[in-house]
Amino acid sequence: MAATLATATGPLPARGGTAAVFSPGGVAWDDDGTIVFAGDAERVPWEPVSGDVGEGTIVPGFVDCHAHLPFVGWRADEYEARLAGVSYRDLHGREGGIYRSARMLAETDDDDVLAFSKALTQEMAAHGTTATELKSGYGLSLEGELRQLRLARRLAEACPQTCVVTLLACHAVPEGWSRADWVTAACDELIPAAASERLADAVDVYVEDIAFSVEDLERVAAAAAAAGLPLRIHADQLGPSGAAEAAVRLGARSADHLNHVSAEGVAALGASETAAVLLPASSLTLRAAPPPVAALRDAGAALAIATDLNPGTSPVSSMPETIAFACSLYGMTPLEALTAATANPAWVLGLDAELGTLETGKRADLVLLDGPSFAHVPYRPGHDPVVTTVIGGEPLDRAR
Ligand code: NIG
Ligand code: FE
Repeated sequence: MAATLATATGPLPARGGTAAVFSPGGVAWDDDGTIVFAGDAERVPWEPVSGDVGEGTIVPGFVDCHAHLPFVGWRADEYEARLAGVSYRDLHGREGGIYRSARMLAETDDDDVLAFSKALTQEMAAHGTTATELKSGYGLSLEGELRQLRLARRLAEACPQTCVVTLLACHAVPEGWSRADWVTAACDELIPAAASERLADAVDVYVEDIAFSVEDLERVAAAAAAAGLPLRIHADQLGPSGAAEAAVRLGARSADHLNHVSAEGVAALGASETAAVLLPASSLTLRAAPPPVAALRDAGAALAIATDLNPGTSPVSSMPETIAFACSLYGMTPLEALTAATANPAWVLGLDAELGTLETGKRADLVLLDGPSFAHVPYRPGHDPVVTTVIGGEPLDRAR
C-alpha cells in the first residue's frame, strides 16, 4: 500500500522522539506477513498490490505496553465519587479500588472473564493496537494471581494481538496478610511458580504509600532476576517515593506513571535504558498533575505511552485517544507520541526485534489512518482515525 508513511527507525529505545516521514511512502510484505519494503514510494520496486490509498497515513501498529487486562466489571461509581471529592486513596482504603476489582474477578467464572476481556482486546484492535501487555494484579492471593495469569495466557490465544504477560506480583496487600508476609510469598512462591509454569514474561510492582515500598521492590527485583524475568515498576504515580531511581538502579525495563518523579529520578532515567512509560489517560481520569515530560525529554529519557487500561484509573482502551491526551495534556509532539506508541513500547515488552517499526524483516503490523498526516490523530480526539488494522499482513475483520 502507498500513502504517507511515518515510522521510527534506528536503535531502540529511541530518544528525542524522531520518526521518519515518507510522503508518498509505501510498504510491501510477503505471503508470510514479513515486510520486504518500507519507505519512499518512488522506490517501491513494483506496483503496490493493495493500491494507492491516497490521502491516508500508514504507521506501525500501536503497542500498548501497560494494560491491566484481563479484568471484569467497571467502577464508574468510583469515578463519580472522585468527581464529588473522594480521593483514590480513600476508595482504596474503603475496600473499593483494586480490592473491589479483585472481588469481581474472584466471583466471576473463567469464561465470563474471558468474554468481557476479549471484547476489550477487539475494541483495542479496532483502534489500531496490534500488540499489548496483559497484567495480573487483581488475583490478590497465590492461587488468584496464578489463575489470572492463566486467564491472560488464554486471552492471548483468543485475541488478535501479540501479547506479553506481566505478573503484577505486588499490587495491593491481600486481606489477611501483612505486607512483609505477602512480599515473602510473592518472592518465594508466586514468582517461582509463575516462571516454572511459563505463565509470566515480566514482573511488576506497585510502589506507593498505599501499596509497596522501595525495599519491597528490591526483594521482588531479586526474585524476578533469579527467575530470569524482566522488571516493570508502577513508579511515583500518586506521590514521590524514589521508585524511578530504584527502577534505574535495579535495571528495570520501565518506570511507569511518573507523575511525581523527582529531579534525581528524571536524571537517572535520562542516563539509563529504563524507559519512562507515561499514562496520560490515567492522569485525565484521576485529574492528576502531569509528569515533568519536558524535563524527561531534555534529560534524554526513552519515552513510551500506553493506555493503562483498567477499571479504576483508566477505562480507556484506545491508543489514538491516549496519543491525543499525550499531546494535549503532556505536551508531546505528534511524531514523538508516534514513536512512544509503537517502537519504544515494543522495546519495553521485548518485542522490538519483530515489530514496533515499519522496517524490512519486521512483521507487517500496521495501521492505515484516514488523515493526511499523523498529527490528525491527536488533533481530532473522539474521531476514529483507523481505516484498517493489519496484523501479520492480514487486514483485521472489524467484526472478529
Ligand atoms: O496503574 N495504580 C495502580 N494500578 C492501576 C490502577 C488499578 C485500579 O485502580 O484498579 C494503575 O493506575
Ligand atoms: Fe497500571
